Amino acid sequence: MYKIKTFNQISVKGLDRFGRDKYEVGSDIGHPDAILLRSHKLHNEVLPDSVLAIARAGAGVNNVPVDDYSKKGIVVFNTPGANANAVKELVLAGMLLSSRGIKNGIDHVKTLHDISDAAELHKTLEAQKKQFAGQELKGKTLGIIGLGAIGSLVADMALALGMNVVGYDPALSIEAAWRLSSDVQRAENMHALLARCDYVSLHVPAIKPTLNMINEDALAQAKPGLVLVNFARESIVDPNAIAKALDKGQLRTYVCDFPEPIFYGRDDVIAMPHIGASTAEAEENCAIMAADQIMDFLENGNIKNS
Ligand code: MLT
Repeated sequence: MYKIKTFNQISVKGLDRFGRDKYEVGSDIGHPDAILLRSHKLHNEVLPDSVLAIARAGAGVNNVPVDDYSKKGIVVFNTPGANANAVKELVLAGMLLSSRGIKNGIDHVKTLHDISDAAELHKTLEAQKKQFAGQELKGKTLGIIGLGAIGSLVADMALALGMNVVGYDPALSIEAAWRLSSDVQRAENMHALLARCDYVSLHVPAIKPTLNMINEDALAQAKPGLVLVNFARESIVDPNAIAKALDKGQLRTYVCDFPEPIFYGRDDVIAMPHIGASTAEAEENCAIMAADQIMDFLENGNIKNS
């Protein structure tokens, strides 16, 4: 019987696949064999000696001091790819929100709620809808920085939409990228990618080399009017540089998954509350993958991070 300590928002459905007689799960287990968490942050606390493994139900492991725990012999897993589809779909929503008059149009319709006559409502809308016209994604160029599980799915989606897709990964070669379509064009470096794209979506992990990688210098290379989509992590971009680039028109819109005070009140920033991976399907996929990894490790000693 294994003891698994879980923190917030972890579905036990994944664990249930192993049969309840094999584990005990709960948040108050004092000496667990493993820890399963999602957003809960571990601050390098001294963990009970019983802990052999930690699994993060998500792609990023910024809430776990991986190096320190690894040195203590604790195996740390993440769940690559398990929530990639959810993020991919929100990237599409972000690009559409930035390019079509969706939000302003919906807000505008709400201001017309006092018009009760359908014919008058129709006439008013017809007269006003020009201001909500947008542009299509088809034929535009999307740059993807980071070609792992999520970046590769975003590439497939963009190709299906008729976009041109350019890829660059600071750590992987195009050949090594995760199931990447051969229709994705290669950029020699990040600056070359920024210079030729109408949209750029970021899919790199938050690690030292990616800290503030989208900074003033990088944005100065961007094609004027770029839409930057960041469903990765906020630390990858320098928010002051983003604000300046928006002011100058170098950036048309910044779409991100983390509200930041510096952007409050800006119509050219679309911020979401870190919901890229928040779908029922992604949560279940992550829980199942994390539970599989933990149980395979505890039962068989296997270390499989996929
Ligand atoms: C991830 O790293 O995959 C996401 O941050 C997951 C989440 O929203 O918890």
